[in-house]
Amino acid sequence: MGQENSLPLVDENTPPQTLESRSVEAVGRMLKALEKKEEKGRVVVMTGAGISTSAGIPDFRSPTTGLYANLARLRLPYAEAVFDIAYFRSNPLPFYTLAQELYPGNYRPTITHSFVRLLHDKRILLKLFTQNIDCLEREAGVPDDKIVEAHGSFARQSCIECKTPYPQEGMREAIREKRVPRCVDAACNGLVKPEIVFFGEQLPREFFENRELPREADLCIVMGTSLSVQPFAGLPSLCREETPRVLINMEQVGGIGSRADDVLVLGDCDAGVRKLAEAAGWLEELEALWARTAP
Ligand code: OAD
Repeated sequence: MGQENSLPLVDENTPPQTLESRSVEAVGRMLKALEKKEEKGRVVVMTGAGISTSAGIPDFRSPTTGLYANLARLRLPYAEAVFDIAYFRSNPLPFYTLAQELYPGNYRPTITHSFVRLLHDKRILLKLFTQNIDCLEREAGVPDDKIVEAHGSFARQSCIECKTPYPQEGMREAIREKRVPRCVDAACNGLVKPEIVFFGEQLPREFFENRELPREADLCIVMGTSLSVQPFAGLPSLCREETPRVLINMEQVGGIGSRADDVLVLGDCDAGVRKLAEAAGWLEELEALWARTAP
């Protein structure tokens, strides 16, 4: 990952192999063409916390607004400890304090989430790989079988020792009361946690079952992630050299920009997807789709 990150930007005189030009307009035209193809095009999307910040959920690593910069109140030995399984075993309370703020149900999907839904409606979404645990992709209407929740989610919970599932309603209550739930099997009495992947835990099976898909993609769109956590961060590099990769993010990350068909759309991702949708002739449709997510 370090290596890929430090790759230099492609020389501006190097022509793209697939796109007409390295521009959002050319990607928009490509999207339109993928939609029109008889054998539908295949777009993979990779997302992170940055696509939910405009919904009011902080990301992790933005310098002043990110979650890791604002955890002093939890008195952690280091910020990422709140998602560390070894630390959780010794002190689960900080996670449950934070979980109350992050628990799904309180937030509206952003127009970026709706953009992924639009790709699905156009029948060109091959897969969405997300690191997010807020379930906003599902709320925007992306179907379950199109989503790989690489870092798990709040959708299920279980005992960390014997893996016995724990009821959803009990978890909702525990989180509301900032209380640490224990295994339903009293003899076990292990700590219960949502099936979010903590540092020190394996990613879900679906991640490994689908991780080769980027190789099959016609187009890759990466949005709102610092691409700093492996193995997720390695996904864009699995795309074929001639597959255009578009990064819609506040900052350049993960070596995207180093290949001849990489397009950087730096800035706010909601603005970026609007530009892209406009270039594909889909802006009105996108706005209408997003309007339907209003409470
Ligand atoms: P990060 O906080 O590391 O990165 C968010 C990225 O989104 C940064 O590059 C921001 O500049 C960018 N960003 C923020 N707001 C944006 C906006 N409105 N428009 C465009 N870009 C924006 O979050 P992730 O990459 O998701 O893991 O973090 C990866 C993993 O690290 C998380 O899944 C979590 C964390 O530790 C676990 O909990 C296991």
